[in-house]
Amino acid sequence: MKFSSTLGALGASSILLSGAGAIELDITSPASIKQAAKSLSTNLRSYYTGDRPGDTPGNLPDPYYWWECGAMFNAFIDYWYYTGDDQYNKITAQAMEHQIGDYNAFMPPNQTKTLGNDDQAFWGMAAMSAAENKLPDLGNGKPSWLSLAQAVFNTQKDRWDNQTCGGGLKWQIFTFNNGYNYKNTISNGCFFNIAARLYKYLGNDTYSNWAERAWEWELAVGLMSEDYHYYDGTDDKKNCTDVNHIQWTYNAGVHMAGAAAMWNVTQNDLWRGRLKGVIDAAGIFFNDNVMIEVACENNGKCDVDQRSFKAYLSRWMGYTAIVAPWTREFIDPLLKASAQAAAKQCNAGANQTSCGLRWVDNGKNDGSFGVGEQMAAMEVVQSLLYTTASGPATAQKGGISVSNPEAGNNVPNTPITFNSITTGDKAGASILTLLVLVAILVGAWWMVS
Ligand SMILES: *[C@@H]1O[C@H](CO)[C@@H](O)[C@H](O)[C@H]1NC(C)=O
Ligand SMILES: *[C@@H]1O[C@H](CO)[C@@H](O)[C@H](O)[C@H]1NC(C)=O
Ligand SMILES: *[C@@H]1O[C@H](CO)[C@@H](O)[C@H](O)[C@H]1NC(C)=O
Ligand SMILES: *[C@@H]1O[C@H](CO)[C@@H](O)[C@H](O)[C@H]1NC(C)=O
Ligand SMILES: *[C@@H]1O[C@H](CO)[C@@H](O)[C@H](O)[C@H]1NC(C)=O
Ligand SMILES: *[C@@H]1O[C@H](CO)[C@@H](O)[C@H](O)[C@H]1NC(C)=O
Repeated sequence: MKFSSTLGALGASSILLSGAGAIELDITSPASIKQAAKSLSTNLRSYYTGDRPGDTPGNLPDPYYWWECGAMFNAFIDYWYYTGDDQYNKITAQAMEHQIGDYNAFMPPNQTKTLGNDDQAFWGMAAMSAAENKLPDLGNGKPSWLSLAQAVFNTQKDRWDNQTCGGGLKWQIFTFNNGYNYKNTISNGCFFNIAARLYKYLGNDTYSNWAERAWEWELAVGLMSEDYHYYDGTDDKKNCTDVNHIQWTYNAGVHMAGAAAMWNVTQNDLWRGRLKGVIDAAGIFFNDNVMIEVACENNGKCDVDQRSFKAYLSRWMGYTAIVAPWTREFIDPLLKASAQAAAKQCNAGANQTSCGLRWVDNGKNDGSFGVGEQMAAMEVVQSLLYTTASGPATAQKGGISVSNPEAGNNVPNTPITFNSITTGDKAGASILTLLVLVAILVGAWWMVS
């Protein structure tokens, strides 16, 4: 916490600054970046109610899905890592502990009806960040951060599906959910990302083999093009011959970070070339170096999920710049211009720290607001601090989270079917109906007699 005194001093002056409107950001000053990130974080935190008595830790109110809450806690872990300000660590640990769920693999039964591999993985990646950034394990017999990431990896490798398309992960975990027949890039990309980072942390070839397999498969079916563009997904009922070609920032980002981790360990030309390719292809998401969600910002159709995607490209660009330092000359101008543009329009709301979606309108706030908008601005601003970060820990170098390579192994593939529950419920319900009917009839009998 060596910056806390600086933060304290700046905290006082920020009250005056906030009156002037907008987030003050001097990108050449770490103290200014920290203060800006802090103001953005206060606003982001105001959306979270899960720590209130009677509410559920790890859930955001409607309309935010469960996965985005995992993504948000990853953002708070990054916030602490970059700034040293630990004020959100307590709600983060509480939320992540509460959502550990079945098999200690972030599969909470409450989420079964919408639980995709990508949703599970966003919590798994938060746990991976906790391990890399040395957030102390929960202790008390609870699974370690690292083992939670390993459990997500192990459950997902067992879902690798050779039945169609020559492999790949389906979007959904359970057969009864919409999207079960879609093999999408973010699910496979998250799996790649976790495998690559586990490889960097632990050095075990099992992880790199799976990372390589996921990468090759995405290329083979065309979810990734030869020139490193990432498309949304493909229908496995058509054996993945039809690809939906819409491109999202987070797909570029999730692969960029994984490729950076692979390069960091191997330092070979194969991964260097791939990583450079992903960075170059991500150019489509920048207008004059300012990040834009091209698929939906210009037509005004970004949904609640999509409003948060720039957060993850920003996050993973910061990670990439740390673990593959030769990428800085390409990434740095993009992060700087984007952070400046993002901060400039964070001037709405009561405290004038609320951010809109669009960063490319030269400081004009577009009037939208929410967890996604706020998290994206916070992540891009705090990522500027990558030059001051010590870098993700590994088992050999500073890591404190406990490994459990068996975590999440031998989990039944479709662990929950609603059939037995439904039958029970129906039986219960019809017995109840019968009792009510009898009561009415008895009542009626008394009335007529
Ligand atoms: C506004 O600022 C006050 C005082 O710092 C803080 O308690 C509150 O959470 C902030 N609200 C938002 C939405 O940032
Ligand atoms: C599941 O839902 C119940 C009822 O809302 C809640 O009490 C519980 O905390 C939830 N569990 C998780 C892991 O979200
Ligand atoms: C699917 O293919 C992978 C890679 O070729 C292989 O390692 C794995 O054993 C296969 N799984 C099944 C269930 O056939
Ligand atoms: C399905 O796609 C895979 C991978 O592209 C291919 O190996 C396989 O032959 C295809 N199956 C059919 C039935 O076309
Ligand atoms: C790999 O990443 C670590 C941080 O985890 C960093 O300290 C190291 O310099 C990187 N290795 C190379 C070759 O850049
Ligand atoms: C590598 O990981 C695999 C799978 O988790 C495990 O079976 C194996 O024992 C590990 N090897 C080492 C050297 O840790």
